[in-house]
Amino acid sequence: MKAKVVLLSLLTAMSLSAQELTIYSHRHYDSDKGIFKLFQEKTGISVNVVQAKANELAKRLEVEGKNSKADLFMTADAGNLEQVRTNNLFVSVSSPELEKLSPKELRGKNNEWYAFTTRARIIVASKDRVKDGEIKTYEDLTDPKFKGKVLVRSSNNIYNISLLSAMIDTLGKEKAKEWAQGITNNLARTPKGADRDQIRAVYAKEGDVAISNSYYLGHLANSKNPKDVEAANSVKVIFPNQDDRGTHINVSGIGVLKTSKNKEAAVKFIEFMLSKEAQEILTNQNYEYPVNKEVKPAKILQSWGEFKIEKPNFEAYWGNAKEALMIFDEVQWK
Ligand SMILES: [Fe+2]
Repeated sequence: MKAKVVLLSLLTAMSLSAQELTIYSHRHYDSDKGIFKLFQEKTGISVNVVQAKANELAKRLEVEGKNSKADLFMTADAGNLEQVRTNNLFVSVSSPELEKLSPKELRGKNNEWYAFTTRARIIVASKDRVKDGEIKTYEDLTDPKFKGKVLVRSSNNIYNISLLSAMIDTLGKEKAKEWAQGITNNLARTPKGADRDQIRAVYAKEGDVAISNSYYLGHLANSKNPKDVEAANSVKVIFPNQDDRGTHINVSGIGVLKTSKNKEAAVKFIEFMLSKEAQEILTNQNYEYPVNKEVKPAKILQSWGEFKIEKPNFEAYWGNAKEALMIFDEVQWK
């Protein structure tokens, strides 16, 4: 009898360990490695991650077609999730657990992808050189008084493409173009580097104000490099457009691919990403905002206070991307 039980549990363990998920991920954060490991330990399902840039992975999925071995696509921008969705590569999934954990407004159409964190595209300003209340909106950054003071990364980056795409959606093409032109006129330098480099450049007095995703400031403030901590301490956080449409947000999200042969395990993985355990790692190690209402944002995020978000129309983030790129080109935002 005892031998039978041992054999049975051995067989169960073997069948579980035989399961494997292949995740195409653009995310480049340490937090995710810990989450993959935990998921593996808890479920016995092993995780194989293929990491590359989101647009490369999206292209690869298109090329691989039916032969793709990928089960899940996961990335850090709704624009890229929408690219994969509009290419009809995701399958609609749901479960009672997902219904419970995922806010409806943070999903792709037909439940084809689920956001697991949000991030705000904030304005970061020098504490010394920008007065409180001087900048309240993204539009304020186009004021000629900020000529030579504005820092932002290049326009081919998806975070900027989604920001402008959302503006086209809410303000119309003309106003969006005016904004992009105004920012370009005020640039402190030809765009270079990533979001963190813009904040570092404010500290280095190359400019007074930067546009950055919120979690990068969290990373600088908690960095092992004392210079980065100083840079983070030298700036203040401005959540733009609190008196009107709200601050632009983006998401990290994940969807199950049509090609997946392990859809059940894939759904289990999404459920895990939304679980309290994973959400705590995502906010405390990567400074993203959790979507699970039971989880509090990391302390540093709490210290910036609550803010009004712009109601996201994720379909427009990708739907307007071509138009956004044309505008960037016209105004010569490099
Ligand atoms: Fe990022």
